[in-house]
Amino acid sequence: MLNIKNNIKVLLTACVALTIPTILSAATSYASVSPIGNPSSATKAESLTAEVQEDNLEKSDQLCIDTNLGRTRLKELLLNKRGVALTFDDGPNPHTTPYILDILKKRHLKAVFFVLGVQANKYPDIVKRIHDEGHIVGNHTYGHKNLAKLKPAAIKKEIESTNKLIEKITGTKPKFIRPPYGSVNKAVVEAINEEGMSMVLWTVDTKDWHSKNEKAVLKEVDRQLHISSGKCIGGAILMHDIYPSTVRALDPVLDKLASNNYKVYSVDNLGNTESDFWSVKAPIFCTRPISLHADPEISRNPLMITLLKDKPKEKVSQMGMLKARKEGNLLIYLAMAR
Ligand code: NI
Repeated sequence: MLNIKNNIKVLLTACVALTIPTILSAATSYASVSPIGNPSSATKAESLTAEVQEDNLEKSDQLCIDTNLGRTRLKELLLNKRGVALTFDDGPNPHTTPYILDILKKRHLKAVFFVLGVQANKYPDIVKRIHDEGHIVGNHTYGHKNLAKLKPAAIKKEIESTNKLIEKITGTKPKFIRPPYGSVNKAVVEAINEEGMSMVLWTVDTKDWHSKNEKAVLKEVDRQLHISSGKCIGGAILMHDIYPSTVRALDPVLDKLASNNYKVYSVDNLGNTESDFWSVKAPIFCTRPISLHADPEISRNPLMITLLKDKPKEKVSQMGMLKARKEGNLLIYLAMAR
């Protein structure tokens, strides 16, 4: 068993090693992405502190109705699931959102995009594409204002005008809303209820708006989902599809989740519908410390000794790793590779 445990470290080592070229290649691919002109409302809004968000998350949970997905409810649904919901806010942005959509399409994954009315108005084609490709278009208000600071009529206007716009573009009235900063009060919850919508918050804040750095985003996901520690909890991940760094982070984040057997859930069916990153059910193992050069004899397990001893070593390659994973042989592949 010691050897098995040890060998699992290979996974971590190899994953980290493989994400580096991925990040580099992604950086090259998206090098042409120019610094984007963020919507001024969003930029100003994102300067609020994370502490404010946390405060509001707790408050909003107390105000939740059954259909709402506040932080507590999301934890109930996802914490023990080794599953994530992917959520993107503040778009669409023509310089970044299409790249996010390309990546999700390539991986056959679905996400929810909480769009701003002001951006949807400028880029209806991207909103249409989000919808047409099977993702959920959610309401993130028209101008990214802190709803809890507005009068009831203004709250209603922010929500309704965005719903109407999205419905005009996609033909479907949005079911989900994410108030900017997760900031809500009684009046906001009432307005959401009146529109017959469900509020969706998050449990994992990648802080991509703050770091604007793909490695930092990956680190936050790993830390908040407790992946490297081996606990591997589930969660709803908050990202923003308006930063090139988030585009560059997405593949490495999804690689990390996939290599730890996470599944992606849609927010409209967190308990039931699921789609695997890969179409195989691979054995569940999580990342642990391991020595690549461990002697299989230590395991005293005849099968492990036969499999691992005196076999020709081959170089770890991303393709080889993917193939082995599909066959359910990732552990053996990594243990035999050099
Ligand atoms: Ni936002």
